[in-house]
Amino acid sequence: MARQPLPPMLPHRDPLRLPHRALLLRTPVGDGRPCKFGRVVGRYGQMAAPTKKITAVSLRERKGQGDKIVAVTAYDVAFARLAERAGVDIVLVGDSLGMVVQGCSSTLPVTLDEMVYHSRAAARGVSSAHLVVDMPFMSYQASVEDGMRAAGRLMKEGGAHAVKLEGGEEAAELVRRLVAVGIPVMGHVGMTPQSVHKFGGFKLQGRTEAQARTIAAGARAIADAGVYAMVLESIPAALAAEITAAVPVPTIGIGAGASCDGQVLVMHDLLGLDPDWSPRFARRYAELGRATEKAFADYAADVRAGRFPSKKESFS
Ligand code: KIV
Repeated sequence: MARQPLPPMLPHRDPLRLPHRALLLRTPVGDGRPCKFGRVVGRYGQMAAPTKKITAVSLRERKGQGDKIVAVTAYDVAFARLAERAGVDIVLVGDSLGMVVQGCSSTLPVTLDEMVYHSRAAARGVSSAHLVVDMPFMSYQASVEDGMRAAGRLMKEGGAHAVKLEGGEEAAELVRRLVAVGIPVMGHVGMTPQSVHKFGGFKLQGRTEAQARTIAAGARAIADAGVYAMVLESIPAALAAEITAAVPVPTIGIGAGASCDGQVLVMHDLLGLDPDWSPRFARRYAELGRATEKAFADYAADVRAGRFPSKKESFS
């Protein structure tokens, strides 16, 4: 018998207002069969949220399984929730928020307090996805103790499931210490944005043999120190493939070609939120910038013409 398409979901219920394991999404009918993303439609018209959480351990175990890891940035509850509902594995509260949310020209001005704030907001949107939060510039570079305390705040106050930090051999000791106290760490090598001034801009790294060897050695060093995954950013695809084959943990690429074990994109790039910005390594899956501008303009026109609010949109 041909399978009927699943009925559309009714509006999402706030996961914070429901007991963790009892999160239910209502559907008009249910037939008990598995549906996308591991959710099960119940016989009583309820769709149970995935109870299987994506963790640092389950992600680490996906190395070599051929099951690509999908990560996207999100900086608040609305987008974190949408990413999870779309089946994204990792929601990354990236310090890219300094650029795409705050409008700075680099990630350097972002503070630990700001990362805690955005992490806490995004954490309210995830129940099964894995929430990774960036350690901002100079929250960990001056000393291991600084890094331990900063990571602790992101986990305790921000609700992070893991932290991400940039660097190769120089970051290995901190990785080791964090992992030893139970904090999962995602690494980040290649074009590490917190070193933008050292690189002279957001430029592809690893083109010269010397650079490539340093990046590959750094990736091995943080893998030995215990990262459960690492981001490879803006490096040649062949170098990313070499690192992916050499390290025992998943690599998650951005501008690093198709051989990585997963991919990550900044949500603003993926959604086309800035119509004038389209980096080569990103693909736009929507034109939300243009759509939003049009919605604002339509609203403004309706208000000015007296078309909004209507009688239906007013109280008697
Ligand atoms: O800050 C960020 O969004 C990131 C990704 C680009 C990997 O680190």
